[in-house]
Amino acid sequence: MHQKLEDKFNVIHPTNKNATYSSIMNYSDDLKKPLQRWYRYKEGFSIELVKQLIEDYNKNPNGVILDPFLGSGTTVITANKLGFKGIGFEVNPFSYFLSKCKLRNYEEDCIKEFHKSFNEITKKAMERVDKYPLPKLSISEKVFDDEVEDFFMTVKQFIEKAEYKFVETQELMLLGWLSSIEELSNYRKAGNGLKKRKYVKPRILSKEDGFSVIGNNYQNIYEDITNNHFDFNIEIYNDSSLNMESYISEGSISGIIFSPPYANCFDYTEIYKLELWFGEFVNEYSDLKNLREVSLRSHLNGNLVIPEDAVVTDTLELLLKELETKELWDKRIPKMLKLYFNDMFRIIDNAYKVLENEGFCSIVVGNSAYGGIVFPTDLILAEYAESIGFTVDKVEVDRYIITSSQQYEMTKNNKKFLRESVVCLIKK
Ligand SMILES: C[S@@+](CC[C@H](N)C(=O)[O-])C[C@H]1O[C@@H](n2cnc3c(N)ncnc32)[C@H](O)[C@@H]1O
Repeated sequence: MHQKLEDKFNVIHPTNKNATYSSIMNYSDDLKKPLQRWYRYKEGFSIELVKQLIEDYNKNPNGVILDPFLGSGTTVITANKLGFKGIGFEVNPFSYFLSKCKLRNYEEDCIKEFHKSFNEITKKAMERVDKYPLPKLSISEKVFDDEVEDFFMTVKQFIEKAEYKFVETQELMLLGWLSSIEELSNYRKAGNGLKKRKYVKPRILSKEDGFSVIGNNYQNIYEDITNNHFDFNIEIYNDSSLNMESYISEGSISGIIFSPPYANCFDYTEIYKLELWFGEFVNEYSDLKNLREVSLRSHLNGNLVIPEDAVVTDTLELLLKELETKELWDKRIPKMLKLYFNDMFRIIDNAYKVLENEGFCSIVVGNSAYGGIVFPTDLILAEYAESIGFTVDKVEVDRYIITSSQQYEMTKNNKKFLRESVVCLIKK
């Protein structure tokens, strides 16, 4: 069945001479670039890819580019640099905050105020460290070594108490502080959540380390906003893109570029929970629950109630039927998959509505496997998009996904479908 579906579309594998995207998908170098270095957003994508997609597909020189899954803002930043207005949606308040701070024009006096503030506050915190209450997150007390924790929380107190002329200064101060969490903490982002760091010898950090990490982040932000003489033209919303229709009028967008969460049980509110709690974007577990319920159903922590009008395509129905016969590590997985695709189909419906004629939509997405069955998300989405009127220009495979040895054995007949691809759609 997978091959039959594949044969319906122009699928380009990395070995094909027409493959253009796989060589520009690598994102790690971008994390050293201005703006992108403010925060190591793990799932961000490459500036080059966004540029290439706009060059290949955008027909309207005065067009507007939309990213319904903004993350750290790569699409909107790149679109702006190429002269296009950018619109974005992001449901996670921390990621939204990060993008908001990156995509802003700062006045000279604000930049000066920021420079003065970070020099003063980090020095003051070195001299006078106090104890401050931690967030209600269950692991709060284990996040930092004692000395770093006191230094870190003291910096935050100073930021909160300082009187700023510009609210933007305080936000930049908070962002530089939040960006230091991962480097200073005893946890790292790994796979589907946070993992305690393991060292042969215990790693003990001091307040001097805190001073250097935070200071370095502030310095990078300072240099980037000082050297940026760019005028951002953006509209971004801290809301689910499933609501995009209420914000964007029909036929007003020339291109859509995005990478949604993949159907791999990856919960972004779990991955970013230190930033969410320490940054006070969530203060109670009920806040976290609410956030999980409005994010795309790519994980098991969301609202897994299937609506009566859920859309299930024939391909999806067949795969879900096959899944019923398999033993799964969580019995809610079939429900999650049904809801994931329902959410993605709604995004594609909305994308079609807001696009102008000849507009394009490029989706970077990874496939997944459960119980040995590969769910070819790229082809399922392409098939659905075609059924509502899109032309599928191509599905270009970017890379193959490496699986565990057990998963490899179970999926080896379909292993070429375990991959990440760019699905390129045109509204004709
Ligand atoms: C793969 S990341 C996007 C990364 C982005 N391309 C970048 O360069 O940083 C997917 C993002 O979708 C966000 N998200 C999940 N559900 C959403 C929803 N319903 N509406 C808007 N954003 C959502 C997640 O918080 C995450 O930041």
